[in-house]
Amino acid sequence: MQLLLGRPSGLLFYLRYNFNMPWEILKWVGLVIVIVFAGTALTGAPFVPSRRKELDIIFKKLYKLSKKDLLVDLGSGDGKVLKAASDFGARALGIELNPFLAIFSKIRFISNPRVSTKMSDFFHGDLPLDTTVVYVFGDGRDMKRIAKKVEEQAQKMKHPVYLISHAFEIPGHKIQKRCRAYMLYKINP
Ligand SMILES: C[S@@+](CC[C@H](N)C(=O)[O-])C[C@H]1O[C@@H](n2cnc3c(N)ncnc32)[C@H](O)[C@@H]1O
Repeated sequence: MQLLLGRPSGLLFYLRYNFNMPWEILKWVGLVIVIVFAGTALTGAPFVPSRRKELDIIFKKLYKLSKKDLLVDLGSGDGKVLKAASDFGARALGIELNPFLAIFSKIRFISNPRVSTKMSDFFHGDLPLDTTVVYVFGDGRDMKRIAKKVEEQAQKMKHPVYLISHAFEIPGHKIQKRCRAYMLYKINP
């Protein structure tokens, strides 16, 4: 399924040969998929999944994730981070703008009570009050705005929130710990 979503042409061949859909319709389906992926990539970070092996390391060494945690993944893609978090016993919420990825995750975690997902822009709306850790693999240009969002949310929650950033540093914030290309920040209310 990830392969199908990851490669629009794979999805088109799947629909053609399993559901006998005419190429004319499939061309339009393909166009819509390309527009949605390109559109979300223009709005923020494009879809590039984190690596499961690295997540297993950082959830032990960078931030010890446990069943006490609620992790929010800002831009949750296909749900790889949510799956890893739930395997560590934590609850996880994914917020994803791309409707294809959001629906894929919704189906993926339909029977996992620890994981929930919503299709939305993470800059809009509040995070759950019991959020303990926020994960982001975003776009370098967005990091300041993301940090501001998490600061505002920590104020509402009235407790510190840990922020794990993959690949991009957050300007003006002190790194608490670094592991590979991941940085841990503590955002105080
Ligand atoms: C680099 S991918 C990371 C996916 C996932 N977090 C992971 O690490 O595997 C970034 C994701 O953020 C999503 N995204 C970008 N801007 C967003 C926004 N403003 N609100 C919600 N999702 C967004 C993209 O659609 C994409 O799936």
